[in-house]
Amino acid sequence: MTTIEKITALCKSRGFVFPGSEIYGGLANTWDFGPLGAELKENIKREWWKFFVQQNPTSVGLDGGILMNSAVWKASGHVDGFNDPLIDCKSCKTRHRADHLIEKHSKGKVSADFKPNEWLEKWIDDNKVKCPTCGKTDWTKIRQFNLMFKTNRGVVEGQEDTVYLRPETAQNQFVNFTNVQRSMRMKIPFGIGQVGKAFRNEITPGNFIFRTIEFEQMEHQQFCHAKDAKKFYEDYKKLAWEFNTKVLGINEKNLRFKDHETLCHYAKMACDIDYNFSFGWGELAGTHHRSEFDLTQHINHSKKSLEYTDPVTNEKFVPTVIESSQGLNRSVLVCLHDAYHEEKVDDDTRVVLKLHPRIAPYKVAVLPLQKKEQGEQAYELCRELSKHFACTYDDTASIGKRYRRQDEIGTPFCITVDFDSVKGKSVTIRHRDTMKQERIKTKEIESYVKLHIL
Ligand code: GAP
Repeated sequence: MTTIEKITALCKSRGFVFPGSEIYGGLANTWDFGPLGAELKENIKREWWKFFVQQNPTSVGLDGGILMNSAVWKASGHVDGFNDPLIDCKSCKTRHRADHLIEKHSKGKVSADFKPNEWLEKWIDDNKVKCPTCGKTDWTKIRQFNLMFKTNRGVVEGQEDTVYLRPETAQNQFVNFTNVQRSMRMKIPFGIGQVGKAFRNEITPGNFIFRTIEFEQMEHQQFCHAKDAKKFYEDYKKLAWEFNTKVLGINEKNLRFKDHETLCHYAKMACDIDYNFSFGWGELAGTHHRSEFDLTQHINHSKKSLEYTDPVTNEKFVPTVIESSQGLNRSVLVCLHDAYHEEKVDDDTRVVLKLHPRIAPYKVAVLPLQKKEQGEQAYELCRELSKHFACTYDDTASIGKRYRRQDEIGTPFCITVDFDSVKGKSVTIRHRDTMKQERIKTKEIESYVKLHIL
């Protein structure tokens, strides 16, 4: 059975994800992507960019800064409203998110999203919710805790301005709406996509890389006329589903749409795509109808026009925004979770990551049957194939062990260079999922693999 502990252990031992600052005892909810995690993350990011930006003729990309004028966050509502309700246990002094305590206690049946403090306190009291650390029910009042990380920018010594690390990438797209629209001569409806880091001062345990304080988001904002908003909202819900099932290859049995019962400050409608993790359903992506909220707020606060004039009807209006947002780190976790399989093979158990070949860190492993005999030839073949797709070379341990090693990291094809390869210019290609082997001509490897990783 897949568990988050097994995935965490595999990620560490096989170079996907390491605990952040581990040699200093770590830092809660921080992780570093190792060599294979970096490849997997990069592949997912590239596929998202292709799907939402490049293959969409009315979309363009943006790469905005993490640090923005603090006025952005005042206007967006994050300074005043981007809070978590925190409650402390008076007995053991640990701090918890009140909404999470309720959701856990009710086994996910009660949603405590955006409920007032009084409602949360009463629920915790009425239901005698215990502290998960010490088991007591001795709680403080709830306090709202802002999730944004603050830092200081000092231009003149002694005079420092507060700046925030962005808690969502979206605001870059909003403040650059007119820059992008004019410079690229975009006509509404059009979209702006962006992938980048976001930061949130999360205090709750993260379930590995599910919830971290530093993460990447892949966000696409569709700017449209209010009359078309519902259509785009439905379209982007479908696109998000298609991206996860068809492009990333996530099993749709493990996904569900979940409408928000209560909405955050900017949203008129919101629907998540949840994944069925071993620790329960968790949000992977969201489609949000943000109405004219963000652009109107920026117009009011900056006193600059972010209106659009329709070139045909001459109508002047503030565009409505339909947002598609997906966590990149969380997508890595979902892909790993979905791909993780344990299979009985003879008397043994093989662990195999059945990642879609499109996102697998390595597409091919080249293995000489015997290092002495075919090592040089196999290494050269690996170098040649690396010009076309990510490859790895391995000549240590028995061929069976090397196959298993590649299964564990999700490499879809193993190419074995053997005695016949030297003579006959052909190799054995082994398929990760079926473990079937076939013989193909060396010169056909490139096209064969490319066909399978499209
Ligand atoms: N711009 C809208 C927005 O930020 P969100 O639901 O707060 O919406 C979007 O975040 C996505 O970002 C989530 O669906 C999730 O995948 C990811 N995400 C949010 N907080 C995260 C965290 N602390 N760690 C990892 N991923 C996170």
